[in-house]
Amino acid sequence: MIKLFSGTANIKLAVQVSKVLNIPLSQSEVVRFEDSEVRVRVLEKVKDKTCAIIQPTSNPSDPRIMELLFFCDALKRSEAKKIIAIIPYFGYSRQNIQHREGEAVSAHVIINLLESVGFDEVFTFDIHDEASQGIFSVPFKNLSAMPILAKEIKDYLKTQKIPLSKVTVVSPDQGGVEKARLFGQALFNKMDFHLAVAEKKRDLEHIHQSFALDLFGDVKGKTAILVDDIITSGGTLLNAAHLCFDKGAKRILVAVVHHDFSSQAPSKIQNSDIEKFFTTDTIPLKDYQKFPKMKKISVAPVIADALKPYL
Ligand code: R5P
Repeated sequence: MIKLFSGTANIKLAVQVSKVLNIPLSQSEVVRFEDSEVRVRVLEKVKDKTCAIIQPTSNPSDPRIMELLFFCDALKRSEAKKIIAIIPYFGYSRQNIQHREGEAVSAHVIINLLESVGFDEVFTFDIHDEASQGIFSVPFKNLSAMPILAKEIKDYLKTQKIPLSKVTVVSPDQGGVEKARLFGQALFNKMDFHLAVAEKKRDLEHIHQSFALDLFGDVKGKTAILVDDIITSGGTLLNAAHLCFDKGAKRILVAVVHHDFSSQAPSKIQNSDIEKFFTTDTIPLKDYQKFPKMKKISVAPVIADALKPYL
């Protein structure tokens, strides 16, 4: 039987996965010292076992990454047969290329670290750039929360009596088109649906600054559903939402997989004309990040499904 461990980043999600799989969460000990170092200890026999460890590397990314790496080392030293990293939110995935001369390609470094410490397989959700898969030399599964987000929104549209013929799926930037398409296919159950794309430009000299220049596609009189992988400052979504309203959209819903919120983002969304914000629990939600327009859907069943072959 697989041994399922949780790091400290999202214990609630790990507990849910263990409940869906009907297996106990394996015991471990994570200690943080006053000098900020962390110590990880596995408290179960894992010799010759397949082990999985759930740990999103969301804010604060670096301590969570170190903890994940130490889990792998602890499991290896305890002679686990196979070690799977389940990283629901893959921190640093946006630093996947040199956006400007002289920059580190941090996603590449993280992948190298995961492999060199000894992970045999890595799962994540809706990684920022699918092409990052090419960096891995161990098996990598990019799970998707788009189908569960689409199902939830379909139910919401029904309660609001909004027909699918009055819906346009919108990507808030050029890079997100494939993800929006994945969401749309799950929502409409076909390839052929209204898709619009906002043209976004980033100001690379200033963090969290972006501008929506134009919108391609038809949103007039429609309910626009903005789909993105990650939200941090909320700038990308709010700029695209304004453009949609300018181009005649009547209502705006949002589906975002990872809420990697900056401090102001929740109140910006709540106080905007966005009607409803659907997201997941790949990242744990802190109490001060909750807001009435938000609806959270758990990815636990998707993780459980991916782990079933190892039971
Ligand atoms: C970037 O291309 C991502 O897909 C998101 O659109 C972006 O990271 C969101 O960041 P923010 O909320 O700060 O605009």
